[in-house]
Order: sequence, then C-alpha cells, then structure tokens
Amino acid sequence: MFNLIIKNFSLYYYNFCALKNINLKIKEKNITAMIGPSGCGKSTLLRSINRINDTIKGVFTKGNINVLGKNIYNTKIDVEALRRNVGMVFQRPNPFPLSIYENISFGLNINNKNSINIKMAVKESLKDVLLWDDVKNKLNRNALNLTLEQQQRLCIARAIIMKPNIILFDEPCSSLDPIATQRIEELILTLKKEYTVIIVTHNMQQAARISCDTAFMLQGKLIEFNKTEKIFTNPMEKETENYITGRFG
Ligand SMILES: Nc1ncnc2c1ncn2[C@@H]1O[C@H](COP(=O)(O)OP(=O)(O)OP(=O)(O)O)[C@@H](O)[C@H]1O
Ligand SMILES: [Mg+2]
Repeated sequence: MFNLIIKNFSLYYYNFCALKNINLKIKEKNITAMIGPSGCGKSTLLRSINRINDTIKGVFTKGNINVLGKNIYNTKIDVEALRRNVGMVFQRPNPFPLSIYENISFGLNINNKNSINIKMAVKESLKDVLLWDDVKNKLNRNALNLTLEQQQRLCIARAIIMKPNIILFDEPCSSLDPIATQRIEELILTLKKEYTVIIVTHNMQQAARISCDTAFMLQGKLIEFNKTEKIFTNPMEKETENYITGRFG
C-alpha cells in the first residue's frame, strides 16, 4: 500500500542542514502535494527520491528512503534503474534538442528494445499525454519548436514511457499560462490511475484541486502530513494554519 517510505531522512549541503529528520509514508496510486514557503526544502526532498541530489557537490544524507521496499540509499542500488522507476518532470520543460521521436524514445534506446516496439511505445506514451494528435505528422521535428505546454506534455511522456512506479513533479505548471496549467493538471489527475504522483507546488489552490494528501514543510522540517482537505480546512498545527491563511510565505 505504501510504495514510498521516508525514514529519519536528513540532507546537508556541506554543513547546512536542508532536510531535518523527515518521516513520510506515501500511498501508491495517489497524488501527494508538497507545499511550503520558498527555501523550505521541497525540491531537495523531491530530488532525494530519485537520488538526483547525488549530482550536487557537497550533498550528504542520513536515514533512508524505501521505494518498493528497497532502501535507495543502499550503496549497491542501481541508480540508473532507480531513475527509470522514479521519473521526474521539472519546472521548465526540458526537452533534449532532438526530434520529438528521439526525445520520447531516448531512454528506451539505451535499453536496446527492437524498433517496432519502440515505435509502439512512443505512440502509446504520446497518446497517454494527449499529444499524439498534435505531433503524429511531425515526429521528426525538433521538440524545442513545440509550445511550452506541449513540451511539458512531451517531458511527461518521456517519463512514462519508462513505466515508472513514481513520477515526481517539481512545480510543473509554473512556466505555463492558466489554461495550459489547467490542462496539465487534468493530465496529472489521469496519471494517478497508474502511477504514484508527488507534486511540489507553490500554488495552494493547485494542491487543493489535484492532491489527496498534502505535506507541509517549513525550514527543512515536515510540519504536517494529512489529507489535503484536512490541511486546508482544519490543520492540526499552528504553523500550517498560518501558512495556508497567508500569514507568511
Ligand atoms: N545546490 C545547493 N547548494 C547549497 N544549498 C542549496 C542547494 N540547493 C538548495 N539549497 C538550499 O537548501 C534549502 C532548500 O532549498 P530547496 O530548493 O529544496 O527549497 P524549495 O522549497 O524547493 O524552494 P522553492 O520554493 O524556492 O523552489 C534552501 O535554503 C536552499 O538555499
Ligand atoms: Mg523548489
């Protein structure tokens, strides 16, 4: 039932403690939002779940994070496999400067599948993100020519083609206009049928609209984790209440 368990997890950038003893259990096929003021550690925590913090100099961690029962901070873990299983979508769409087709099939080629299967998988994942009809006749065009919304859909397709278990979204709508934002939110809602979704957002309305559970963070600490409705209507902690009523942040 829980496919992600974060246990006594702390993270330092050199000697600055950015995450302080986080404990969190995330349910599968659910959307969990992470909210909190700028600098509270939302992105750091998200990046810890597929270990892309490893690429940042000076990072040191304590505690563990279990994905599907395995501690991903175990030194023997296959980090490439972990990142396929825990996909990530960023604030600014970041297609590779390659064709639409090459962008989506990028990870599969590494895995050496045959070309018919690759074509089918590309089509499937573009359909899943409702981009297929827009791009089916221009798969060889550079992905950077797409609109920002289409680029973000492409990045989501690039993650889901790997059949991940978990997809991490770090403020995926913050570079989009309100209409594109609404459409990407609708897409994220459909993803929870198959994936565990964790979304960092500055936008409390967005968290309220799409998530089932919400984690509120402050200065590297997890202050409260609860049903989204509870967090926004009747939070347990004073700090949560102050934040959601707009007293700071
Ligand atoms: N690469 C880094 N090196 C040193 N400190 C960092 C690094 N990345 C983040 N930090 C610090 O860690 C803390 C948490 O940052 P993080 O980016 O995780 O916050 P956030 O909640 O995502 O903020 P925002 O809402 O602005 O995106 C901040 O104090 C930040 O300055
Ligand atoms: Mg951030």
